[in-house]
Amino acid sequence: MGMIRLDKYISSQTLFSRSEIRKMIFKGQVKVDGVCILKPDFKIDENTVKVSLDDREINFEKYVYLVMNKPKGILSATTDKNSKTAVDLLPEEYKKRNIFPAGRLDKDSTGMLILTDDGDFAHRITGPKHHIEKAYIVTLDTLVTDEMIDGFRKGVTLVSGEECSPAVCEKISDKVARVILTEGKYHQIKRMFGIFDAGVEELHRERIGKMLLPSDLKEGEYCKILPENLLD
Ligand code: URA
Repeated sequence: MGMIRLDKYISSQTLFSRSEIRKMIFKGQVKVDGVCILKPDFKIDENTVKVSLDDREINFEKYVYLVMNKPKGILSATTDKNSKTAVDLLPEEYKKRNIFPAGRLDKDSTGMLILTDDGDFAHRITGPKHHIEKAYIVTLDTLVTDEMIDGFRKGVTLVSGEECSPAVCEKISDKVARVILTEGKYHQIKRMFGIFDAGVEELHRERIGKMLLPSDLKEGEYCKILPENLLD
């Protein structure tokens, strides 16, 4: 059960400031389960209660889950002094909720990025113990070879000595491969191909867990998703 103050609840679900909300409560504009409540510190159960403002019910969302098609040049971070971030591309209603990217995608990579304010869910997607698949379309500066495909299957050892778990490298065309990882080390795909003297020219994430990046989502666009679209 999540007991929460009435003013805090409204603040978490709307763009009104705390002082605007207090005024609305004092003026009798707020009802809890149909009853007018005049106390901002009135405790409610956020999971069961119906709160209305001027008789319009507030649609309660405990957490928000978004999928974005990240463009090149955008950092998968919340804030940054020098670069635009994925969170910068979101409207105020989401920024206010402290939404953050669940997992990294390099600045020069494109494709599927999950943004949420649900820390447990983010951990389930990114945590190394969960082995959630992530699929990437990778364009190399050289040919995709059998040596790469075999090497990825066996598990690549990076220059640093870090061992990568076995991964799928599937040839799509001469210089393009689909790579499926179940972990997310820093610059992992670039470093894995580096072992085979190959450079990565383009890297696009097309899938996380069981969900593909929606094909109608243009670069920089995002949409709401249900967490069960990604994970079982
Ligand atoms: N591996 C990389 O090297 N970069 C990414 O953005 C994702 C996986």
